[in-house]
Amino acid sequence: MKAEIEADTGITTEASNWVFDEHVAPHFDEHVRKSVPEYDRVQDLAAKFSDWFTHPDCTILDFGAATGETLRRIRERHSKPINLIGYDNSQAMIAQAATKGVEVAFADLERLVDIPPFDFGVALYTLQFLRTQARQQLVYRLAKALRPGGGFFVVEKVLGSYPTTQDIIQQLYWDMKIANGLTPAQVLNKAHALRGCMFPKTIQENETEFRGAGFSQVEIVFKDLQFCGWLLIR
Ligand SMILES: C[S@@+](CC[C@H](N)C(=O)[O-])C[C@H]1O[C@@H](n2cnc3c(N)ncnc32)[C@H](O)[C@@H]1O
Repeated sequence: MKAEIEADTGITTEASNWVFDEHVAPHFDEHVRKSVPEYDRVQDLAAKFSDWFTHPDCTILDFGAATGETLRRIRERHSKPINLIGYDNSQAMIAQAATKGVEVAFADLERLVDIPPFDFGVALYTLQFLRTQARQQLVYRLAKALRPGGGFFVVEKVLGSYPTTQDIIQQLYWDMKIANGLTPAQVLNKAHALRGCMFPKTIQENETEFRGAGFSQVEIVFKDLQFCGWLLIR
C-alpha cells in the first residue's frame, strides 16, 4: 500500500495522486486560501465580471465548480433570473456545493462534448488539471459554445517565462504558503502529490491556446506569483 502524506491539517494524499476526494473536499475552502494568492479577490473579480455579460435568462457556466463558491457569489450578486451550471467530476466537491444550495453537475471535463450556448463562463484553477490534448479540445469547444461577445474568466497556475524568473517566483510562492500556515513538509508533500496530476503552462502557451480557440480579446486581469488570470472575449 502507498504511503499517505499530509498536505494540510486534515488533508491526506499520496505522492503523484492528488485528487479532490472526500479527504480534500471538506477542507477545500480553507486549504485553497492558504495555497493560492488572493483567492478571495479572484472570486470577487469573477462575480464582478459577470455584471458585463448577464441579462435576464442568460447562462453562466463554471468549469471545475468544486464547492460552488464562485456560482454562489454570482448568484448572490444578481436579482435577475440566471441559469447557473457548474461542472465537476468530484462527488465529494459536488456534495459540499449542495450544502451551499449550489447545484453542480457531475461531468468529466476531459470528455465534455455537449456544452450549451452560454454568455459568461469561468474556469478558475481548473484547466491546469487537464491533460494537454483534452484541455485543448475543451478550450476549443467552450469557445465555440460561448455566444459572440460573451466573456470567459480563466485563472491558471503558470510557469515563469524564463528559467531564472521561474525559480524566483516558485520560491516566493512556497514562502507564501509557509507564511499562510502550511509547514515546509506539507508544501513539499503537496508538490509530490501534484506530480503527474497538474500541467501548468507559460503565459505565452496559454494565450496561444486561447487565441487559437477563437477568443478575439485575451487580456491579463490578474497576476500574482505563479498565478495568472485572463478575461477572454469571444
Ligand atoms: C483547484 S479546484 C478549483 C475549484 C474552483 N474553481 C475554485 O475556484 O475554487 C479544481 C476543480 O476542478 C475539478 N476537476 C479537475 N479535473 C477535472 C475533470 N477532468 N473534470 C471535471 N472536474 C475536474 C476538481 O474536482 C476541483 O473541484
